[in-house]
Amino acid sequence: MKDVDGAVPGNGHALVELFARLREANGNPSLTVIASRIPSRGKKNAARSYLSEIFRGRKFPSGDRAEAIALALLASDRDVDQARFLAESARERSGPDTAGGGEPTGAGRYEREVQGFLDFYTAVFVGRDRELTEILAATAHSDGRYVIVEAPAGYGKSALAAQLIVRHRARGWPGRQPNLIYYLVRQDGERNTAEAFYSAVNSQLQDLLREAMTVNQDARQRFRELWSRAAAEARSGRPLILLVDGLDEVAPSGTAIVDLLPTDTGRHVSVIVTSRPSPDVTSRVPLDHPLRRGIRLSLGDFDEPEIAMLLRHFGSQHVSEREVRRILKVTRGQPLFARFVTEDVAAGNAYVLAAMADHPPAGVSEYFSWQISQLTSAADRTITWDALALLVATRGPISRPDLAGALGWSADRAARALRPIERFLIGRNQVELMHREMRRAIASHLPADSCPE
Ligand SMILES: Nc1ncnc2c1ncn2[C@@H]1O[C@H](COP(=O)(O)OP(=O)(O)OP(=O)(O)O)[C@@H](O)[C@H]1O
Ligand SMILES: [Mg+2]
Repeated sequence: MKDVDGAVPGNGHALVELFARLREANGNPSLTVIASRIPSRGKKNAARSYLSEIFRGRKFPSGDRAEAIALALLASDRDVDQARFLAESARERSGPDTAGGGEPTGAGRYEREVQGFLDFYTAVFVGRDRELTEILAATAHSDGRYVIVEAPAGYGKSALAAQLIVRHRARGWPGRQPNLIYYLVRQDGERNTAEAFYSAVNSQLQDLLREAMTVNQDARQRFRELWSRAAAEARSGRPLILLVDGLDEVAPSGTAIVDLLPTDTGRHVSVIVTSRPSPDVTSRVPLDHPLRRGIRLSLGDFDEPEIAMLLRHFGSQHVSEREVRRILKVTRGQPLFARFVTEDVAAGNAYVLAAMADHPPAGVSEYFSWQISQLTSAADRTITWDALALLVATRGPISRPDLAGALGWSADRAARALRPIERFLIGRNQVELMHREMRRAIASHLPADSCPE
């Protein structure tokens, strides 16, 4: 599996796995017991919490310390040497005792993986106050429930999910700060598989429960165990919420993420999911699944206030009612259109309104097709097309240097190629197309043999 920087998982991660394996082989002693076996000059409590950080991959020990931990776990000479080597090389790359540094493990790894999405979606966010209030009220209720946020493509389900995550991270969740476990399902980059889901949520649950990582345990079984323990600890002052965005992003074969959702919501335990309305996600689960009794919430069109807010956000100095109404008419208040058209208008490209009024796109896919066809007219945009073709083919994130390398370009040339489509890209260092419909739209403009679909 690749890590977020495209490198193989680093030595810090391997070290955590090695310790987990040794601990299991040693009958899973508690951290206090392990700490008591390590000669230490400091306080035992400090040693225990330090060990906890190490076992969760948050800190990397020195080579000596790693050796002492391995010995406390009755490791073979070979494993002791291995622990020393892994610790030293992890510290070399990320600095001593850093919180994961350049190669986070566990929940930190997933946090970093989704950072690009959160940046993209929270760069601009307007409205949805009522929906946010309703979600927060439903999840604050002592009888935890499923909440199903439904809306067609491009209506802002992922944008709303990103809001919930960043508000939670900023401890800006009104009322009681819950424990939030989240997963963003995406077709691209194989983030719609059971493996990817379990890896992300299990690491967050482990972190929450201050558990060390385990190896050799079935991920599904591990999820069940961790979830029910986290649920048992939920209380009114600290509810537990699982947030899963994009349940409709089903892998063509294999398990759908909806089939993995917990069936034990309950006191102070809720699950928020988002999905396109058709097909109805609830129809996939058994009749007695709590998802079927979920509270449904729809995201509607934007209205004048949201259009005006978007224009202001993108720098319009004088927002006239006439202009707002015109944009509303052309975009029909569809959030994705509204977001990009207001940006065009605020940048002085008002011709976009006339062009869209002449050929109103029926949906997100057609809108992207239209955007893409604008590129075909400019001969000097050939390099942008090459970059687009590569982004379609990679079907997931690629670093800017890798993109340049794959096309035999300088970093400068790659930057020039990406500039016209930068606003449709997610991620700063690792980039990918913002929307799967965009990938489809681009693919349909490419010669049939140059794209994977
Ligand atoms: N409330 C909002 N404020 C500002 N921009 C928004 C808002 N909602 C959506 N957008 C923008 O519209 C675009 C589409 O939103 P998003 O990807 O969240 O839609 P979605 O409902 O998740 O679509 P899909 O079903 O295809 O996953 C994004 O560029 C997003 O930034
Ligand atoms: Mg989405």
